[in-house]
Amino acid sequence: MRGTLPRVQGRPPLQFRSERSDHQNLMKRVAIIGAGQSGCQLGLGLLKAGLDVSMYSDRSADEISYGRVLSSQCMFDSALEIERNLELNYWEEECPKVQGIGLALPNGIGGKAIDWVAPLDNFAQSVDQRLKIPRWMQEFQKRGGELRIKPASLDDLTEITRSQDLVIVASGKGALGHLFERDSERSPFSQPQRTTALTYVKGMLPRAPYSAVSFSIVPNVGEYFVFPALTTSGPCDIMVFEGVPGGPWDCWSDVKTSAEHLARCKDILAKYLPWETDRCHDIELTDENGVLTGCVVPTVRKPVAWAAGIPVLGMADAVVLNDPLTVQGSNNAARCAEIYLESILELGTGRPDAEWMQQTFDRYWNGYAKWVVEWTNLLLRPPAHVIKLLDCAGKISAVASAFANGFDDPRTLFPWFINSGEADAFVQQQAKLVAERLDRRDFRRALGQFATGVTVVTANTSDGRRIGVTVNSFSSVSLDPPLILWSLSRQAESFFDFTNVTHFAVNVLEAKQHHLSRQFSTRLADKFAGVEFIEGKAGVPLLKGVIAEFVCRKVRLYDGGDHVIFVGEVEEYKYEDGEPLVFHSGRYRVATRHPDIAE
Ligand SMILES: Cc1cc2nc3c(=O)[nH]c(=O)nc-3n(C[C@H](O)[C@H](O)[C@H](O)COP(=O)(O)OP(=O)(O)OC[C@H]3O[C@@H](n4cnc5c(N)ncnc54)[C@H](O)[C@@H]3O)c2cc1C
Ligand SMILES: Cc1cc2nc3c(=O)[nH]c(=O)nc-3n(C[C@H](O)[C@H](O)[C@H](O)COP(=O)(O)O)c2cc1C
Repeated sequence: MRGTLPRVQGRPPLQFRSERSDHQNLMKRVAIIGAGQSGCQLGLGLLKAGLDVSMYSDRSADEISYGRVLSSQCMFDSALEIERNLELNYWEEECPKVQGIGLALPNGIGGKAIDWVAPLDNFAQSVDQRLKIPRWMQEFQKRGGELRIKPASLDDLTEITRSQDLVIVASGKGALGHLFERDSERSPFSQPQRTTALTYVKGMLPRAPYSAVSFSIVPNVGEYFVFPALTTSGPCDIMVFEGVPGGPWDCWSDVKTSAEHLARCKDILAKYLPWETDRCHDIELTDENGVLTGCVVPTVRKPVAWAAGIPVLGMADAVVLNDPLTVQGSNNAARCAEIYLESILELGTGRPDAEWMQQTFDRYWNGYAKWVVEWTNLLLRPPAHVIKLLDCAGKISAVASAFANGFDDPRTLFPWFINSGEADAFVQQQAKLVAERLDRRDFRRALGQFATGVTVVTANTSDGRRIGVTVNSFSSVSLDPPLILWSLSRQAESFFDFTNVTHFAVNVLEAKQHHLSRQFSTRLADKFAGVEFIEGKAGVPLLKGVIAEFVCRKVRLYDGGDHVIFVGEVEEYKYEDGEPLVFHSGRYRVATRHPDIAE
């Protein structure tokens, strides 16, 4: 019916309640074992939502503050954004900013065969966990959490599960994680792939022309990376050596003192990476505890274990442990804690069961972690096409930029970085764009200045499969007839399915539905897992909780370069009061009234 659309009555308007009352009907008591990046972040998030949280740490705040360094903990923008949203970014002003990713490969005669640096779209930062975790523990107690300083044993865990609605094990590399069965299909290695040596120093000359995580790769020997950070005594630089086991950089076992450790670092640089030596003539340790050596076996574990017949859920490193080579661990921990927080807050009353735990982990694994694991494991044994790609990155800045920004979201490295055929196609495509004088990332950055809402376009295929994709190219076209449009990339997995459907629905997301935006913008076997929806006309999935929905008949497709423009005639629609999810400059935002305009 043209022009006179029947107005479909909406559900009762969405109500905005205080965060505490929002979760009144949730289970109440959550215990977290381990007060590290993920444990503290989840604990603080749950407290903010009004739950009772207790957290167990095997070390007191003072023991952490005055103890040995724990990590190099470089975190990229999306993970930092999670901390910002929880108001935990206490050091953002004083912490040096990491502005790019650099890469060098020696040429065997003292120079570099590959040498480039590419800017990150948004800066990264590293705050010494000896600074961060004690402050977060303090905040946890201030916000009403119960902090127990006690290494939790298996017996303790059994005891804890009895008095809690949910127990989460966030013990990092700690032995308690062995409670969770190793997932052999997802864990290709049974031995450490690198020996890692960490060194916190002062007095290093800054990298020109801008700060970066500077990687140097010596094939079959190891990798070195260095970047600015904030430690307990102020700004510093963190040096990390990753030595192939049994190789010349696996050389720390005879080092007895911190001074010897620093001297060994300088020896390696002088012999293998002389250009880095130039920055290091005056370096000294930040403190006696500013060094660490060790290794990990990259391991993925099954996320659910049992204590006294009650399931417990593993989080972050406890169940997905990566080698530090790609500097992703704290970023993963932040993402995992964010997803678990969302999942807990979506849960109704009662005790969460093993199935819910598995689904919660699957959301993390399928939506994020598996890409990081695959990428990191690939770089531990880089195939020839990776070295070729890194070489191309030195010649085509768009390739360098895509690689650099992949550190913020490794999903964007798929499939082009992983697969040699895709890598060649990607390089050719980027080279063509350079020839055409168009830097695609830069163009996208410019387009990103246009703020939009976020929609999920859904449909039902003729053979009964549900498809869905996150879309911000949605726009109104015409009132009479009632037309809308959106565009879909020809590369989308669902592209051919969408071109064949008769109807689709445009679901306009509400501010809190950012997880749906992420879910539908990630290639997943089942994008609808855990998503609440009903079926509308022609079986189109209508997502619950959205602020508007438009059920459309597909009326026309137009060529739009690498996208195709879909025009739909709206046959039904409905809407609610509510706050929209906003997308601007690559980030999710909420809309607020303009402060200059009185209403
Ligand atoms: C050398 C090195 C360099 C790294 N560099 C980076 C980097 O640059 N960027 C990055 O993103 N990641 C990096 N990581 C990884 C990152 O530090 C971890 O992935 C991240 O801290 C994991 O967070 P988590 O919450 O899982 O565990 P953690 O932060 O390790 O926290 C676990 C906590 O649980 C405590 N605990 C353990 N067992 C028990 C128990 N039984 N009872 C009570 N408490 C317990 C531990 O003491 C610890 O405080 C690096 C790691 C290493 C080793
Ligand atoms: C906020 C946001 C908006 C997006 N808008 C569009 C869009 O308008 N068109 C498009 O083709 N892809 C868009 N994408 C990317 C797709 O959602 C993503 O590539 C998705 O994986 C494609 O679905 P597929 O699983 O069928 O490949 C957007 C992603 C995000 C995060």
